[in-house]
Amino acid sequence: VYVEYLDYEAVVANGWELGDDELFRKARRAGLAEESYGSFEVEPGDYLLEAAEEQGFDWPFSCRGGACANCAVLVVDGALEMTVDNVLSDELVAQGIQLSCIGTPVTDDLQVVYNVKDLPGLEELQL
Ligand code: FES
Repeated sequence: VYVEYLDYEAVVANGWELGDDELFRKARRAGLAEESYGSFEVEPGDYLLEAAEEQGFDWPFSCRGGACANCAVLVVDGALEMTVDNVLSDELVAQGIQLSCIGTPVTDDLQVVYNVKDLPGLEELQL
């Protein structure tokens, strides 16, 4: 599974919007550091957070078990499936929010904005 990622901090720092269809195109052209934007492969069935850590990235987390929202990502394209019960409301999931510690990609390609834990609705779920 090919995963393209973008740090929410870079979205804010550049004045971009999460709903922008051109978001990843802008990120590709912006010359961001590797920790802010890039891509890696995830083996089917592996958790996104662990796969990012295997690449040497330091994505936010706390419980590693679906009980907080520190590891939340926004899925922009493709799909992640969460493998255990979790704290996210249906509304957040419908917006594309998923938990990377228990989320495994189920599409060949995935685009995620990570580090979205401070978005409305997620902040109060943090541990
Ligand atoms: Fe707590 Fe993922 S780290 S839900």
